[in-house]
Amino acid sequence: MTTVLTYGTFDLFHIGHVRLLSRLAELGDELVVGVSTDEFNALKGKTSIISYADRAEIVSAVRHVDKVIPENGWEQKRQDLIDHGVDVFAMGSDWQGKFDDLSDLCEIRYLDRTDGISSTKLKEQLSDPVSLDVDRVREALDTLQQVVDNYRGLR
Ligand code: CTP
Repeated sequence: MTTVLTYGTFDLFHIGHVRLLSRLAELGDELVVGVSTDEFNALKGKTSIISYADRAEIVSAVRHVDKVIPENGWEQKRQDLIDHGVDVFAMGSDWQGKFDDLSDLCEIRYLDRTDGISSTKLKEQLSDPVSLDVDRVREALDTLQQVVDNYRGLR
């Protein structure tokens, strides 16, 4: 059995998170996800909107995920890899190269992120609704442009 492990905050759970978890699950038979606790996020200088308990429950409910464990600090990874018999440790490409020192214990993989979305971006859009409108107008103009291009192609 191949066990895969990843870590993340998973605040304001979004499509980039689902796609990453789906691709991680394809790397093995069992997916373990370490969800960063509120205390650890504070240490990293991050604040999440959704509490640890709720983020852990949301990630547990994703069908690609078999087990959720708390991520309490930077130092636990080596022990987690041993405790959970991990074969593949994988993170999004924003962490490229950062965990290569664990390669004596298992395979290390970095997966491409989904473009255009992050918890940080969602928080910015929620706190600045005008930017959300600008994005919508831009999308509408792109669609209109495609319609015009198609029409020109037909003539
Ligand atoms: N992730 C991804 N694609 C995105 C956003 C996140 O694949 N568009 C991945 C990250 O690379 C990470 C995992 O999802 O491996 C959890 O990331 P997290 O930091 O919780 O998500 P972000 O949306 O990047 O949050 P933030 O903006 O706070 O960094």
